[in-house]
Amino acid sequence: MVTRVLHLILVALALICDSGNCATFENVSLVLVSRSPEYLRTFFSVYVRSANSLAPYVNPQSFEVIVIVEENVPVLRKNSISNMSKIEEINVVASGVRRIEPGTFHDLPKLQQLNLSGNSLVEIENGVFTNLQVHSLSLQNNQIARLGDRAFNDMNLRFLFLNHNKISMWSSKWFAGNPLKSIQMADNLIQELPAYAFKYLRRFGDRIDVINWSNNKLQRIDGQAFNGLNHLGVDQK
Ligand SMILES: *[C@@H]1O[C@H](CO)[C@@H](O)[C@H](O)[C@H]1NC(C)=O
Ligand SMILES: *[C@@H]1O[C@H](CO)[C@@H](O)[C@H](O)[C@H]1NC(C)=O
Ligand SMILES: *[C@@H]1O[C@H](CO)[C@@H](O)[C@H](O)[C@H]1NC(C)=O
Ligand SMILES: *[C@@H]1O[C@H](CO)[C@@H](O)[C@H](O)[C@H]1NC(C)=O
Repeated sequence: MVTRVLHLILVALALICDSGNCATFENVSLVLVSRSPEYLRTFFSVYVRSANSLAPYVNPQSFEVIVIVEENVPVLRKNSISNMSKIEEINVVASGVRRIEPGTFHDLPKLQQLNLSGNSLVEIENGVFTNLQVHSLSLQNNQIARLGDRAFNDMNLRFLFLNHNKISMWSSKWFAGNPLKSIQMADNLIQELPAYAFKYLRRFGDRIDVINWSNNKLQRIDGQAFNGLNHLGVDQK
């Protein structure tokens, strides 16, 4: 009985939080870490009782890496991860993130790596990463089934990890304007490569090393899929 009441309270709380009444970060522990080798073991732990932005907790410290692991952050809201001029790497991993609002990330001039793996994301809307310039973006091990047609445009990305999601169609338009070297898309549900499947990667065709489609459902490759390509390492099992 007691557990059932507790369960109901928790469900009610979750619903209230979903409707936008909770702060983005409630009862969240974050760890700040230094990137430079001589300080690799230096870190600083912060407990955020309730806040809509990480900046006031991060900016007074002199660390470059933010780590949030196995916490509970269902929605990353607009402006919540922004305005942090020293930060080079952000990890929000295995923390139940279901949605990222466009405008969450901005004014992160030194950011190079963003890791959002192991969450519960189902969609990446256009605009979510619009204000970011990062070398490496990891969205692996989510539930992503939908990508906005310009989801990753103009981010200056080299390495993109989308493996282990639920992506069922392929569009190179997602990647326009990035000098990508590697796209990891293993363990998805891609069935078909459409005509001109690399159109928006073509300008960078001489630089990309790997597109990994291991463990997809590829059944059909359009006769014009590879039009305009010179060479490309395709790992397709
Ligand atoms: C955070 O912790 C406080 C105090 O324990 C509790 O009242 C509140 O409901 C918690 N919020 C969430 C979203 O878990
Ligand atoms: C950004 O952070 C600085 C201090 O770190 C603060 O003075 C400024 O108001 C913040 N700007 C915004 C738009 O939040
Ligand atoms: C992202 O974080 C997960 C969990 O810590 C780790 O296994 C993975 O290697 C990271 N990915 C990248 C690209 O850094
Ligand atoms: C492709 O992905 C599979 C599964 O994650 C992995 O084992 C393999 O090493 C990857 N291959 C390349 C060339 O990245």
